[in-house]
Amino acid sequence: MTVEEFAPAKINLTLHVTGQRADGYHLLDSLVIFADVGDRVTVSSAEATRLTVSGPRAAGVPTGDGNLVVRAARAIGVDADIHLEKHLPAAAGIGGGSSDAAATLRALSKLSGKPLPAMPEILSLGADVPLCLRRGMVRMEGIGEQLTDLDPALPLRLLLVNPGVEVPTPLVFKALRRKTNPPMDWPMPKEGWIEWLAAQRNDLEAPAIEAAPVIQTVLDALRDSPGCQLARMSGSGATCFAIFKDAESQKQALEAIRVTHPDWWSVACAAVA
Ligand code: C5P
Repeated sequence: MTVEEFAPAKINLTLHVTGQRADGYHLLDSLVIFADVGDRVTVSSAEATRLTVSGPRAAGVPTGDGNLVVRAARAIGVDADIHLEKHLPAAAGIGGGSSDAAATLRALSKLSGKPLPAMPEILSLGADVPLCLRRGMVRMEGIGEQLTDLDPALPLRLLLVNPGVEVPTPLVFKALRRKTNPPMDWPMPKEGWIEWLAAQRNDLEAPAIEAAPVIQTVLDALRDSPGCQLARMSGSGATCFAIFKDAESQKQALEAIRVTHPDWWSVACAAVA
């Protein structure tokens, strides 16, 4: 038997850092959606766990215990042949590794009939792994373990753009000067949602730009694109997202960015329900 699971990119539409725990982990208040672009995980029964990787972003992806997919398989206790088709850039703020791990847990649970591991164990794989087991629009609090499912995401027209720099998450959190910042204005409104979103923040944007100034170049390029309603960094970067007012402006912006910055990873996407 073979089970296939989609591992979507996660997009932090907002990411407020509201405090820091005694163990160093940061408390977050984040609004998240999932994109219809992502990786693909396929599993089939085997005597021992083996991971193979293919796809446009396969280069440099570890196939041993250094890969969260393998650690996820150990956590659920199911041996399998696992194939990962990699489309998302690594260490990019869109949850590639976390989403792969979540998809692996789902796939191996279906393959074996075993339940998912308990929250602490899932969380120990990575703070974003519990989140990546969800879909739709989610509010994430705590360090990633407090999850609230919200109404399905609006039919957003999005671009994701990554300038090809890997910014290590711990470094960005460390560079954040003020650890206690206001949470999101809540509840979010049904009307004037984009304006509300624009008034929220990603607190990691400034420290990430300090580490990798090219992120500002990405944001400027997106904001200068006609029809762009909002551009912001996702997670700890370096991927930025932009919301466009219609399909035409989304398409034109993608074409323009691909011409001016052919070395950047750029893709048009929508939110998945
Ligand atoms: O949990 P994960 O391995 O994804 O986190 C990577 C690093 O990011 C942690 O070691 C920590 O330095 C930082 N982090 C944090 N607060 C969070 C999530 C991650 O400080 N809520």
